[in-house]
Amino acid sequence: MSLLHLEGVTRTVERPDEEPLTILHGIDLEVDSGDRISVVGRSGSGKSTLLNILGLLDAPSTGRIAIHDRDVRTLSSAHRDRLRGSEIGFIFQQFNLLPGRTALENVMTPLLYAHGASFWRRESIARAMLERVGLGHRLDSKPDRLSGGEQQRVAIARSLVRGPRLILADEPTGALDLETGEAVMSMIDEVATDTGAALVTITHDPAIAARATRHYRLIAGRLFEGAEMTDDAAETPTVAVAP
Ligand SMILES: Nc1ncnc2c1ncn2[C@@H]1O[C@H](COP(=O)(O)OP(=O)(O)OP(=O)(O)O)[C@@H](O)[C@H]1O
Ligand SMILES: [Mg+2]
Repeated sequence: MSLLHLEGVTRTVERPDEEPLTILHGIDLEVDSGDRISVVGRSGSGKSTLLNILGLLDAPSTGRIAIHDRDVRTLSSAHRDRLRGSEIGFIFQQFNLLPGRTALENVMTPLLYAHGASFWRRESIARAMLERVGLGHRLDSKPDRLSGGEQQRVAIARSLVRGPRLILADEPTGALDLETGEAVMSMIDEVATDTGAALVTITHDPAIAARATRHYRLIAGRLFEGAEMTDDAAETPTVAVAP
C-alpha cells in the first residue's frame, strides 16, 4: 500500500484580469513509508505549490491524489483535515511558533486535537519530544528567548509530536546557518528513521538534497527524476521529455 500517490496532478490558479496560471503540469509521484525524497528547483518553479498538494492543503485542479490508496476526493473535508493532522507533519522555513507561548506549550498545541489525551499525558508527550530534539532544558522558554536553530527544533518537535507518517519540509534550513542547518536536518532524519515516516524535503541546498535517496527537480512546474539534471539541461528541447 502506498502512503501517497499522485497521478497526472495539475494545479491551475485563477488570476484577476489575467489568464489562469498553470503552476504544476502532469505530476506523477509515489511516496512510500521510509522514503527520503528531495525536490529542488528554481524560485517560482512550483515547489511550495507541490508541497501544499502533498500535504492535502490544496486540491489538484486535475489528476488524482490518494492517501493510503484512498482517493482524497472521496473523503469529507472533516476526514481529510483529521488525516492531515494525524498523518502529516509540516516543517517550514519560518518557524511559525506561537510567540506568547513557551516551547512546551507550542509543542502541546497539536495534541489538543488528538483524542483521548489528558493534559498531563499531552504534557509528558510534548516534554519527551522536546527532549528528543535536545531542548529538555528550554521547556519554559518563549520563542523570543530562543536562537533560530532552537526555534526550528521546537517547530520540528511540534510537527512530529503526533508521529506523522509523512513529513513535509519546505526549506527547513533556509533561515539557519550551514552548521545549524545540518544539525537540524540530522535531527529530522533521525526522527523519521525512528518512526519509519517518509520525508519529502524541498531545498535550494545541494548538501541537504544529497541526504535523500530519491532526487527530483521541478522545472517550470514539471517534475523530473534524477539528481544530475540541471534546469539548463532540461530547458534545451532535446532533453525536455516531459509530456
Ligand atoms: N495563488 C496563486 N495565484 C497566482 N500565482 C500563484 C499562486 N500561487 C503561486 N503562484 C505562482 O506560481 C509560481 C510557483 O509558486 P511556488 O510558491 O510554488 O514557487 P516555489 O518553487 O516554491 O518558489 P520559491 O523557491 O521562491 O519558494 C510562482 O510564480 C508564483 O508566483
Ligand atoms: Mg516556495
